[in-house]
Amino acid sequence: MSTTSGAAGASNRPPAQRAGLAAPTTTVAFSPEQLAEVQRLQSLYPDRRGALLPVLHMAQETFGYISLPVEEYVGGLFELSPAHVHEVVTFYTLYFQQPKGRHVVAVCHNLSCYLAGSRDILAHLQRRLGIDLGETTPDGRITLQSVECLCACEAAPMVQVDDRYELNLTPDKIDRLLEGLR
Ligand code: FES
Repeated sequence: MSTTSGAAGASNRPPAQRAGLAAPTTTVAFSPEQLAEVQRLQSLYPDRRGALLPVLHMAQETFGYISLPVEEYVGGLFELSPAHVHEVVTFYTLYFQQPKGRHVVAVCHNLSCYLAGSRDILAHLQRRLGIDLGETTPDGRITLQSVECLCACEAAPMVQVDDRYELNLTPDKIDRLLEGLR
């Protein structure tokens, strides 16, 4: 199936795609069952665009991450331009634009965590993993992110590891944490 929605011209594609840096290389398409689920989700909202976020989650689970072709495909399901979808994808840290690691470590950088030493925690993680924010270790084990407040300020500094919180962190705790991530 084509990856194009037909709804968008070259002028409103993201800059990287206009420059030919990320041309579609793989087939992007939901299964018939997933398309039925898209329709069901869209029917739940007065404006069917309200279902964009859950459908993007579905796309991420299906295709691994939200590439430019995936943005274009999902945009076509909503009659939205790829540029519109791209703005949504880049706004939320839960959407990945590159293949992500088997584990995602997300360091909170907001005020409480910052005052409690999140910069040191982040620096320790970067040193131990040998990667920068937004990068994935070469073995595909861990992706490192920085995120806004995760509402666990009373236990700052904290990180989210996949779907769980790790609280009151110290460099020693980080080391033990990393050892448990395979
Ligand atoms: S500031 Fe980090 S959890 Fe709120």
